[in-house]
Amino acid sequence: MIRTNPGKPLQGSLGDQRDFNIPGDKSISHRAALFSALAVGESEISNFLIANVTKAMLDGLQELGFKWEFSGTTLKLAGKGIVNLPTTSGDLSSTIDCGNSATTMRLLAGALPGMGKSAVLDGSSGLRKRPMTRIVKPLKKMGVPVQDTGGCAPLIIGKPKYTLKPLNYTLPVASAQVKTCILLAALAAEGETTVYEPGPSRDHSERMLKTMGVEIYKEPRDDKRDIPVPSRDYFVTRILPPGNKRLTPLKMTIPGDISSGAFIIVAGLICPDSEIKIEGLGINPTRIGILDALLKMGADISIQNQQVLNDEPVADLVVRSSKLRGVELSGSEIVRMIDEFPIFAVAASYADGITRVKDAEELRYKESDRIAAISSELSKIGVRIEEKPDGFTIYGGYSIEGGDVDSHGDHRLAMSLAVAGLSSKEGTRVKSAEVIAESFPDFINILKFLGADVQNN
Ligand code: S3P
Repeated sequence: MIRTNPGKPLQGSLGDQRDFNIPGDKSISHRAALFSALAVGESEISNFLIANVTKAMLDGLQELGFKWEFSGTTLKLAGKGIVNLPTTSGDLSSTIDCGNSATTMRLLAGALPGMGKSAVLDGSSGLRKRPMTRIVKPLKKMGVPVQDTGGCAPLIIGKPKYTLKPLNYTLPVASAQVKTCILLAALAAEGETTVYEPGPSRDHSERMLKTMGVEIYKEPRDDKRDIPVPSRDYFVTRILPPGNKRLTPLKMTIPGDISSGAFIIVAGLICPDSEIKIEGLGINPTRIGILDALLKMGADISIQNQQVLNDEPVADLVVRSSKLRGVELSGSEIVRMIDEFPIFAVAASYADGITRVKDAEELRYKESDRIAAISSELSKIGVRIEEKPDGFTIYGGYSIEGGDVDSHGDHRLAMSLAVAGLSSKEGTRVKSAEVIAESFPDFINILKFLGADVQNN
């Protein structure tokens, strides 16, 4: 259980050269490890996220025969290249435990054919409830033999009998995991694959594959910002298989994870007299929906020292306590802050006025049913929140009592509820908070370092 108490301002700087740093981006860490396995030669990846979710990916790669080692947070992994011929012999099936990590499962499923491997992909009871038909359907269309278990894991991924067919596929819901699964399978297909999405899901895979030498294109395109712009109904990604061309190994530093940084940012905004600097945070345009929303709410966040590192934009952020106001979010704003709704809801609880979130039904299929879990837990501590089928409405500006809450086994909910206590009357006590280690093992140490009154027992 974690207990957070109110009354302390949060002050200090976080960064690579400081006592504490926001950990490396989870999505980019997953991709860097997996894509390195498909390159020929050794990749070296600094500031890799060391947490349960990425351990699942690394253990999976080890099970598949890839060798890796760490020196501090720098990962070295030896890749074996892409097998784009169908194989009928070779390794026996491995069973891979993806733990709680849907990213591990969905991305590995797409990469296995290109590795010339078959495997059973399984995971925790929580992961076994997450929807997998969304990847099974396109993989089958490409010729990957996949067997699911009632639309969920365990998944049995066999070796394709023939070279994979390219695909033209429209995702019903924007999803970077599904898009990436298809793009990875497309590396072993015999022609160009195109994925259409109704929203701008995170584009780390596209950026990384491009730096590795893969021909990959985004449409529509704004050349100045190098990101897709919503001038048509769909966001399009086209990929060409590399054929005999080898993927270049990665030499990169992973930016700080904006999704983890968001907990610290909101903590700084809601605790009076706070000022926090966060250095080296990723600000990829497909990920900063939370910053846009908080700025719209009146947050005092200044974005400094913007740079591009390995094709990913990064910056330093200075956050000061702010008086927030309610805001409305819908449509393509949702996918750009998909993982930040639990902590956004905390910010909205401390804002004056009404906040409405619509078109966000996808939140029901995350580590918990986040619409139901946010609504039930925040109402326990005195937030006026109404659950809607596709979102929630928060009536902000009332004082928040605090009290006992539950993480629902969801790391992002646990951290959001801990932050919610920092400016409440009596603080919060979050049950089953050990789940925070899934993505942000240093969360409590960082809050303490910044001066928060937090106890972990
Ligand atoms: C992720 C994509 C998102 C996000 C998840 C990580 C990724 O999921 O919620 O935490 O690394 O691609 P969807 O793409 O399914 O929305």
